[in-house]
Amino acid sequence: MSKTYKIAVIGGDGTGPEVIREGLKVINAVSKVSGFKYETINFPCGGERYLKTGDIITDTELKDLRKADAIYLGAIGHPDVKPGILEHGILLRLRFELDQYINLRPVKLYPNVYTPLRDKGPDEIDFVVVRENTEGLYVGNGGFFKKGTPDEVATQLMINTRKGVERCIRYAFEFTRKRNQEKKLTLCAKTNVLTYAHDLWWRAFNEVGEEYSDIKRDYAHVDATCMWMVKNPEWFDVIVTTNMFGDIITDLGAMIQGGMGIAAGGNINPEGVSMFEPIGGSAPKYTGQGVINPLAAISAGQMMLETLGETNAAQRIEKAVIAVLQKHLKSLSAGKMGYSTSEVGDLVAKYAVE
Ligand code: IPM
Ligand code: MN
Repeated sequence: MSKTYKIAVIGGDGTGPEVIREGLKVINAVSKVSGFKYETINFPCGGERYLKTGDIITDTELKDLRKADAIYLGAIGHPDVKPGILEHGILLRLRFELDQYINLRPVKLYPNVYTPLRDKGPDEIDFVVVRENTEGLYVGNGGFFKKGTPDEVATQLMINTRKGVERCIRYAFEFTRKRNQEKKLTLCAKTNVLTYAHDLWWRAFNEVGEEYSDIKRDYAHVDATCMWMVKNPEWFDVIVTTNMFGDIITDLGAMIQGGMGIAAGGNINPEGVSMFEPIGGSAPKYTGQGVINPLAAISAGQMMLETLGETNAAQRIEKAVIAVLQKHLKSLSAGKMGYSTSEVGDLVAKYAVE
């Protein structure tokens, strides 16, 4: 008997639930032809509930989330909740508690998708960012001294552990090998300024790299990485980087691959429960209008199935997304697609089972 996957669903805020609904529609369609079974469990975490009850993630929910095979997340962020509360309470908390130490963000331009880079197309824009996801500037180690006075001091320490850095780098080498394209891994850091923290990264990169003689090692400072991502994106195959740098360069990456409507990512614990999400926000102003683009969420669903080992289903979804982009969508922007959110979901579901 085949396994029934337990998929925890956190629609979240704003347009999150709308795009996740389309992702689940597509997953349901491919499950029938690819032959896998799954059940979904809904978690009502998000701004609405927080405003009503004060709960962000309850202990019971966290226990249940730990038992899931994967988590499918829509978006976090509510206009009436102070910035930071939900981001820390839901997104970052889950990344940390579930030790999702990799944030995997493909930057792939599909045919017929607008990129602001003149003279660059799908052949040039196709790389993957492996972002460290549980350390660095995100650990929340810091504080205020004399807050609110002219003598105020604020600190926020960047934590890099050898173990955390090494496991991320090792994952990136393995990923580059498996991806099997240029077999080139670029370390993106800032070794000329962060002479302690990124010296650790540099040494770990080269030491681990010795075990991967088939992978070419490459290095770029983060500022130069931004430059090359715009000028020569074809130079990249896989980039491995720190939590904060990865956050920043993947927004740039999302823009060159067509915008937030298409960019998906996975928060991965290779030994545990991983969580998949469109990387854009909750887009509150579009909530409930049926105009938001669900493709990023659908592609996050594809990454989820790929990670669960449902390669055939994942490939079907990617082919269907490409077909919809080539044959249908006028634009990837909300309200300008020429189709409603659910019509886009219907189209992807239709091509995915062909
Ligand atoms: C992302 C987001 C988050 C991050 C925020 C919402 C905390 O920007 O997933 O890239 O900084 O990691
Ligand atoms: Mn970000």
